[in-house]
Amino acid sequence: MFKSYVVLLSITMLMLVSCGKEASLMKVERAPFGKLPDGRQVEQFTLVNSQGAKAMVITYGAIVNRLYMPDRNGNFADIVLGFDKIDNYLKEPPYFGAIVGRYGNRIGKGQFTLDGKTYQLATNNGPNHLHGGVAGFDKVLWSAETVKSDSAVGVKLFYLSRDGEEGYPGNLKLEVTYWLTNLNQLRIDYLATTDQATIVNPTHHGYFNLAGHGEGDILGHELMIAADYFTPVDETLIPSGELRPVQGTPFDFTTPTAIGARIGEADQQLQYGQGYDHNWVLTKETGKLGLAASVYEASSGRYMEVYTTEPGMQFYCGNFLDGTFTGKEGKRYNHRYGLCLEAQHYPESPNKPDFPSVVLRPGETYTQTTMYQFSVR
Ligand code: BGC
Repeated sequence: MFKSYVVLLSITMLMLVSCGKEASLMKVERAPFGKLPDGRQVEQFTLVNSQGAKAMVITYGAIVNRLYMPDRNGNFADIVLGFDKIDNYLKEPPYFGAIVGRYGNRIGKGQFTLDGKTYQLATNNGPNHLHGGVAGFDKVLWSAETVKSDSAVGVKLFYLSRDGEEGYPGNLKLEVTYWLTNLNQLRIDYLATTDQATIVNPTHHGYFNLAGHGEGDILGHELMIAADYFTPVDETLIPSGELRPVQGTPFDFTTPTAIGARIGEADQQLQYGQGYDHNWVLTKETGKLGLAASVYEASSGRYMEVYTTEPGMQFYCGNFLDGTFTGKEGKRYNHRYGLCLEAQHYPESPNKPDFPSVVLRPGETYTQTTMYQFSVR
């Protein structure tokens, strides 16, 4: 009796010690990350969880510029595309790792009508508006503070998008919190309020390569998207309003399939997107955090699941990367070297009354949670 009591006590003490050890790994460090041309300081927050996984976030664009996750042998690699220096983020336009908005993705001809008034936004992508305009949320400096819980460390970023900024109505107060949990989840919580009716649809624009950034293309990654329909587009990538079944098309990712398996097929939608660059209509219930997509990379064993409260998912497979970008550690990002899974409301929603609404009114609160969860197989 006494013996088993002693054994139990020692096990409990051991557990407490190891828990303490784990917890002691958890930390957030704050350091300068260069300056903007007007002299303002950009900061970098390094989040480390109890497993030694690491996420680095800069206050320019709320960009996740590094994300270290283990492979099946426990070796860590940085699995997101990005730049070493702030200067590259200022010059180069592919939204690496940023929060984009006020409206993520496209609005046809940059126009929408709200409560009888027509608004004209910048047409910064051919004839259309893309990712919030000329200087969207990815090109502004956010303020930030450290946050912590028992099971996660994080950084909370704040931005006030003023009435009229990029043509959008209303002062929009936005908070985005990146949490790195001890379960190797990168969880993003969004919250926004406005003082005038407006439209809002921010998303995270991380480019993932589960083999490690710069380590080849993502065509062998196996993708699952929990969606029976997608929103077909015209040649300028604006949805027509139709919800088209994925069944029997190269857009069917209901069972895990290599991204490259059907990308070269003679399909008009693939031609318009120059590959995959479309919105999928998620099967899961909107407003509840549910599984939307997963990606598996066989050589590393890394497996990523994407959970979201949003109704849609833009899957973009880096079709416009062409090797002109030299990323971190001098690595070149060639064609399709990264993939984006952007949780969102559907593109062109402000002009499509049948799509879920993106209107936010005074007194209401916009919320979104999207979580990228990493494990190995
Ligand atoms: C869009 C692509 C665009 C990319 C920008 C994606 O969300 O759908 O068409 O080129 O963002 O890097």
